[in-house]
Amino acid sequence: MTLLGLNIDHVATLRNARGGTEPDPVQAALIAEASGADSIVCHLREDRRHIRDADVRRLRGSVTTSLQLEMALHPDVIDVALDVKPLEIMVVPERREEVTTEGGFDCVRYSRPLGDAIARFRAAGIGVSVFIDADAVQIAQAHTLGAHTIELHTGPYCHAAVEEAEPELARLEAAAAQARGLGIEVHAGHGLNYENIQRLLRRVPVSKVNIGHSVVSRAVFAGFATAVREMKTLIESVG
Ligand code: PXP
Repeated sequence: MTLLGLNIDHVATLRNARGGTEPDPVQAALIAEASGADSIVCHLREDRRHIRDADVRRLRGSVTTSLQLEMALHPDVIDVALDVKPLEIMVVPERREEVTTEGGFDCVRYSRPLGDAIARFRAAGIGVSVFIDADAVQIAQAHTLGAHTIELHTGPYCHAAVEEAEPELARLEAAAAQARGLGIEVHAGHGLNYENIQRLLRRVPVSKVNIGHSVVSRAVFAGFATAVREMKTLIESVG
C-alpha cells in the first residue's frame, strides 16, 4: 500500500499573501490527517517564503502521524531540524530564484556536505531521505552515503505529454527497482495530481507519494478534507 504524504507549503503561501494568520497550515495538517493523509510534509526554505520556523515547531507539536521536513543544506535550517527533530528530513537542492524545486539533489557533486549532514541527522535519530532524479549513479551514491530513503523526482513524468510519458515511467521503474535492490525505501513526488497519480503507481511501486500543489488547488473549490480524501481514494484503489 502506498502512503500519502501531504505537503502543506501552499497553505502557508496563501496565508503569507496577506501577512496574517489565515489559513493556518497547522489546521490544514490536522484536517489532512483526519482525511487520510499518512504523513505531513513541509519545506522550510532558506528565504522562508511559505513555511516559517514557528510553523515547523507548531507542526511538530500537533501532527500525530509523522512530520517530514524538506530542506536544503543551509546551516540555519539544519539547526532548526536538529532542534525540532522531525521523524525524517528530505534533502533537496534549492535556488533562491526558483519557483519550486527544479531537480534532484546532486549526490555526487555535493557528496561531502550530504555525507556530513546524513551522519549528523542519523546521530540525532532523524531519518534522511534525498530527493533525486531517476539516475543510477545518483541512487548508488545516495546509498553509499547512508540515505535511508530516496524520493524519486516525478517532475519529468508529470510534465511530459500523456503519449510521451512512457520513457519517463520506464526510467522511474528502473530507478525504483535499483533502489529497492540496495535496501533503500523509495518515495516519489513533484507534480503529481489527480490525473497522473494512478498511471505512476500502476507502474512504479513506491511506499509513499508526497503531494502538495494539486491537493491545495483542489481544496480551494472542494474543501481541504474532500481534496485529501479524493487523492487518498485514487491511491488506495491502485493498491
Ligand atoms: N517532493 C519534493 C521534493 C518537492 O520539492 C515538492 C514541492 O515542494 C513536492 C514533493 C510536492 O510537489 P507538488 O507540490 O508539485 O505536489
